[in-house]
Amino acid sequence: MSHVEEQDYANSNELFGGSIMSPVPDPYSVYTRLRAERPVIAMKGWMDASHMITRYDDVVAGLKDAETFSARGNARGIGLVIGRTILEMEGAEHVRHRRIVTPAFSPRALRGEVEKHIHAVSHQLIDQFASEGRADLVPQFTFTFPLRVLAQIMGVPISDFEEFHHWAIDLISVAHDPAKGFAAAKSIVDYLRPILDERRKSPQDDLLTVLLNAEVEGERLGEEEVLGFLRLLLPAGAETTYRLTGSILYALLTRPEQRAEVEADPARLDDAIEETLRWESPVQIVSREATRDVEIAGYTIPQGELAIFAVGSANRDERHFADPDRFDLHRENKSDHVAFGFGEHFCLGSHLARMEARIAVAALLERLPDLRLDPSASCGVVGVAFRSPDRLPVRFG
Ligand code: HEM
Repeated sequence: MSHVEEQDYANSNELFGGSIMSPVPDPYSVYTRLRAERPVIAMKGWMDASHMITRYDDVVAGLKDAETFSARGNARGIGLVIGRTILEMEGAEHVRHRRIVTPAFSPRALRGEVEKHIHAVSHQLIDQFASEGRADLVPQFTFTFPLRVLAQIMGVPISDFEEFHHWAIDLISVAHDPAKGFAAAKSIVDYLRPILDERRKSPQDDLLTVLLNAEVEGERLGEEEVLGFLRLLLPAGAETTYRLTGSILYALLTRPEQRAEVEADPARLDDAIEETLRWESPVQIVSREATRDVEIAGYTIPQGELAIFAVGSANRDERHFADPDRFDLHRENKSDHVAFGFGEHFCLGSHLARMEARIAVAALLERLPDLRLDPSASCGVVGVAFRSPDRLPVRFG
């Protein structure tokens, strides 16, 4: 196997027509071409030298093979600012740490109080604009809603959601703007440290207390480890679910027949959630580090370089999903999507994300009669690493 020659690296910004965080409207035509002509492409520009894998079967096989594709690849991106967390741990260490937080996000734990809280947050937000006949559902609803829910589960009293949310977003932009990422990480820690001190003195029935009391191999987690969990969970929950909710709304509001089906039969909302996860995956790429020289589809990924598994492309692979660019509630294999990743690092918050989306979209459709996109303002789903509508101007009533 030969190594990739220096001149073989494509410029990722040129390939996609923008940086990793830019609002690119359509990366899918690039992916279609790559899947057909160059299913593994060496790139430079976004992060270190990296190799993007775009076909469904290759993405699933790679994410399954944790020995060859190590999650420590995450240490070079988001790990730089959130510290060492389960996202970059492997094997037994990963299992021991992930186990601390898994129970809080199980379907059983979410039923009841959390579910009620999600209902309450949805309706409080809708109350603020329901009488106005118009709104932009991104800033006024989808954007702020998941962070509020997560803050409640974690037991982190956030007084200024807007400011906190901007830190969460700056944090995940680290590959694109490191200075902003590090500044945001510091702001989050400065904000959270006094809350941790307070909770140590008076434990509560919340995840923060669980983290402060958690032991791994007989030892309490250190403060850095607790802060790491918070720096991971808050953006992971806040920065992703809002995108899913926005894209579901966009899909339904631009497809009246499918929206009518959802309104006639609420069970169809689950189909809309799964099909949106496939069709407009909120998180489009998952990074790993090659632990040895490895060949995929005839291309070599050299040891130590990053493998970028393009889940957003895999979910549009015509080899797996017929007519993949079409949004179709009735698609039989839509749940084969890999929008929550695959294997050991499969998303911890998948049940919470689905529950939030289900409750939020149902509440909006029920409370805002004749909900429709504002014909005088355009909008669409945008992004490369993350995708969602950047605005959703609507009218109703
Ligand atoms: C639609 C919403 C969401 C999407 C699309 C999504 C997507 C993903 C993906 C693709 C991964 C795999 C990362 C990798 O393999 O490197 C992941 C992991 C993770 N997600 Fe989510 N996520 C969502 C919501 C949430 C929520 C609400 C939480 C709240 C706690 C969360 C917490 C996590 C955590 C902690 C991990 C790391 C798991 C591990 O490394 O073992 N996610 N997510």
